Amino acid sequence: MAQPLIIANWKANPDSPGRALRLARDSERGTAGVSGAEIVIAPPMPFLESVRTALTRIKLGAQDAFWGDIGPFTGETSWHQLKHLKVSYIIVGHSERRMYAGETDETVHRKIMAFLAHGFNAVLCIGEREREGKEIPAVVGEQLTRALLGVSPRHLSRLVVAYEPIWAISTNLHARPDTPDNAFRALVYIRKIISGLYKKKAAHAVRVIYGGSVSAENIAGFIGEGGMQGALVGGASLSSAHFSHIVKTAASVRGQNLSQNSLS
Ligand code: PGA
Repeated sequence: MAQPLIIANWKANPDSPGRALRLARDSERGTAGVSGAEIVIAPPMPFLESVRTALTRIKLGAQDAFWGDIGPFTGETSWHQLKHLKVSYIIVGHSERRMYAGETDETVHRKIMAFLAHGFNAVLCIGEREREGKEIPAVVGEQLTRALLGVSPRHLSRLVVAYEPIWAISTNLHARPDTPDNAFRALVYIRKIISGLYKKKAAHAVRVIYGGSVSAENIAGFIGEGGMQGALVGGASLSSAHFSHIVKTAASVRGQNLSQNSLS
């Protein structure tokens, strides 16, 4: 089993390059010595370069990019340019981009295709606006299927699916984290769809992570009972202390799971 993947999504924070650099340095220091987790920080575009200089073990992510190569795409940042900054992960289709930046299933699909084809790890965000009861709404499956249409099985090991119910994102009204139990349902649901689209081995290579009000208190449940292979962390990643705590807890829960599995 792979190490848990913990991605810090800073969104449009913090407010200055100095603060971004400090947060990156403190997150790097706070997680020093943790070997059982893969850690990524996705800062806003203007801070990518300076944050990169502060990171050694932590990998660099981007919160979005354009699907086209360099050229006449005013206002966009192309994946090609991110290559030079050693960005290894690109988040795609976050609900805030779908909401504020007109991201559609079609543009999400184009981005997933482009980023995977050009060697990036793509973090595909899917999730419902509302959920009645425990059933995962069909819109989640539709987002997933549309995004994956035509994706080569060879690229699946670089695909991460982030299940992020919109109602669970900390900045949304009445937000509350999902339960590990429901996250597990989502995991099974997502895995079933991917297994329907690809052969077993390729489908198995996709990592599924959870996002939405992840904290130092609830991460253990999502990785343990929830079976998630990591987390996309928004608000809590803006505190290096909280973020480091999340990373350490995820690494230790995964370690416990592995030793239990080896005993059974
Ligand atoms: P949150 O954000 O952890 O603040 O809920 C997660 C996200 O939107 O990626």
